[in-house]
Amino acid sequence: MRATEIQADLSEILVTEEQILAKLDELALRVADDYAGKDLILVGVLKGAVMVMADFARALPFHAPMDWMAVSSYGASTKSSGVVQIRKDLDTDLNGKHVLIVEDIIDSGLTLSWLLENFESRGAESIEVLALLRKPEAAKVVIDCKYVGFDIPTDFVVGYGLDFDERYRNLRDVAVLAPHVYS
Ligand code: XMP
Ligand code: MG
Repeated sequence: MRATEIQADLSEILVTEEQILAKLDELALRVADDYAGKDLILVGVLKGAVMVMADFARALPFHAPMDWMAVSSYGASTKSSGVVQIRKDLDTDLNGKHVLIVEDIIDSGLTLSWLLENFESRGAESIEVLALLRKPEAAKVVIDCKYVGFDIPTDFVVGYGLDFDERYRNLRDVAVLAPHVYS
């Protein structure tokens, strides 16, 4: 797909790469403060959180181990089913660890609420969430997310790791996907 064709699939740039990187720097400072002297592990949710993890982890002033979990996602649809399936489990034992879940977006919140319960049952010492994006008006369950990048409207968004049917993940900015693409 050519750049001009991709542009035609987007109705609006919501958050630019520059804004994202500045925000992740800010969040990394807060996280560094909050976890000073603690055993922190970053858990990314594949695949959407790959870009957030890459930039956030590099903004942190210390190293923290990274692990990844893959859960069932939207596939080719734009609505959350609430049915979560583990596709790839963690390699790390969370028992006694301070876990920071790194997410691309909280939409309905169903996936995260399931993940939070799952991680609690593994005996983590603490669990917090960092999400680059959040859609407050789409919430079906309340998620206590300590580190939020940007609150956005309910439109389906792509870019910076977020995909529609595996496309648009590599866009540097976050943009609203034009309805003609999925309707
Ligand atoms: P929920 O609704 O459970 O969201 O909070 C679960 C996962 O769905 C993906 N998601 C999106 N992906 N554009 C995307 O490309 C969106 O607007 C969007 N909303 C949700 C995302 O992976 C999230 O973690
Ligand atoms: Mg995700």
